[in-house]
Amino acid sequence: MPGTALVGIQWGDEGKGKVTDLLAEHTDMVVRYQGGNNAGHTIVVNGDKYALHLVPTGVLYAHCTPVIGPGVVVDPSVLIDEVESLEGRGVDTSKLVLSGNAHLIMPYHLELDRVQERRLGRNNLGTTKKGIGPAYADKASRIGLRVEDLLDRKIFSEKLRVAIKEKNLLLTRVYGRLPVDAASIEQEYFAYGEKLAPYIGDAVGMVQRALDQGRSVLFEGAQATMLDLDHGTYPFVTSSNPVAGGACAGAGVGPGDISRVIGISKAYCTRVGSGPFPSEADPADSEELVEAGAEYGTTTGRKRRCGWFDAVAARYAARLNTLTEVVVTKLDVLSRFESLKVCIAYEYEGDRFDRFPPNQTIFNRARPVYEELPGWTQEISHARKLDDLPKEARSYLETIEELMTTPVSWASVGPGRDEVVRISEGD
Ligand code: GDP
Ligand code: IMO
Ligand code: MG
Repeated sequence: MPGTALVGIQWGDEGKGKVTDLLAEHTDMVVRYQGGNNAGHTIVVNGDKYALHLVPTGVLYAHCTPVIGPGVVVDPSVLIDEVESLEGRGVDTSKLVLSGNAHLIMPYHLELDRVQERRLGRNNLGTTKKGIGPAYADKASRIGLRVEDLLDRKIFSEKLRVAIKEKNLLLTRVYGRLPVDAASIEQEYFAYGEKLAPYIGDAVGMVQRALDQGRSVLFEGAQATMLDLDHGTYPFVTSSNPVAGGACAGAGVGPGDISRVIGISKAYCTRVGSGPFPSEADPADSEELVEAGAEYGTTTGRKRRCGWFDAVAARYAARLNTLTEVVVTKLDVLSRFESLKVCIAYEYEGDRFDRFPPNQTIFNRARPVYEELPGWTQEISHARKLDDLPKEARSYLETIEELMTTPVSWASVGPGRDEVVRISEGD
């Protein structure tokens, strides 16, 4: 049975964790395929909140095998803390599988992320400062260290010495920082290796076997389409490929192994960090959305920039990911607005763009063309079936479906596991 990919279609934080958790109840394996602990996926179960950064969301179910694929970059100290914290809360993590091919985030990646951002000054990207960009850069430059290197101290030390030579020149001569010390990194990482050894395994083989045996496999995207390195709002993007196609490379499967692609979208839009955001709301509406949606980053605590649903970007994402359905989250957050804006096109120098512009200059300066829809000023968190939703909320979802030409399968009306409304059957 082919697998399912679940991807964010905006700028992240769409509620991927919540929806993965919803689906994981009937899923055998949940696989992270890209990104690292720049992700923060929140799950609320019976009022208990879990914020997962590296461990796939399926970990909360005993029947589910969580897999960290080779496309992920792993900060071992963060992974160990996360595993220990989950165990401390009674969550069994023994089934977790960590790919030996996943790259390691090293102390100098964290340092470089910080100093590079500082050097960019007002042009900074607003990264999460978790070392993601520098770790992927080393992977592409073929001087990265991988999880499997933790198991072979000789190889680890050799590779570290090659990498560190260049890093220390960069840190001291270009950025005026102190050099990092190979011996102390070795000591730190060898200890991580001992703790992580029981989890390191043939992640790709396990995913492939699960698919071959007809078990259900869900590929859990982190970040989102508009943050994709190749297709997002470059350079204000992350350094991996969150799009559904990235699941193939990052987990080790082919396109034929994925038949269902679920796009996760907020009923409005948010973005953390710098970069263009055509449907960004005016300060008063943005504050309303921040307050109603508790829009503060799960990973960095930064206030998220808020705006209206962007149908142009959503259509772009629908095609890029070949979405088979979309889940609309945080519909409840819109309950306080008498009228709602939806960005249906962009305008630039007198031209109208119904499709995503082919060039970043246009996108950077695009002005939104809005359609106004009636709001519903009543609480909807209690809704569990379509009929429980006010007609304006149903028609808002229908508008999203029409604008994206993609069926809306679920609407989420609160952070809790059960706070969802089934809209259409989908797969
Ligand atoms: P992710 O990175 O895509 O997994 O999303 P985050 O967890 O970073 O951010 C989504 C936030 O919205 C979390 O705090 C969730 O608990 C919360 N959330 C998810 N779905 C809903 C919803 O339908 N309504 C409300 N009010 N909150 C939600
Ligand atoms: P989840 O999985 C929202 C953003 C950062 C910054 C840009 C680059 O929780 O949706 P990076 O540290 O990746 O080099 O930062 O990407 N960013 C996210 N924004 N949600 C995320 O993950 C993000 N991961 C990275 O804010 O703008
Ligand atoms: Mg998040």
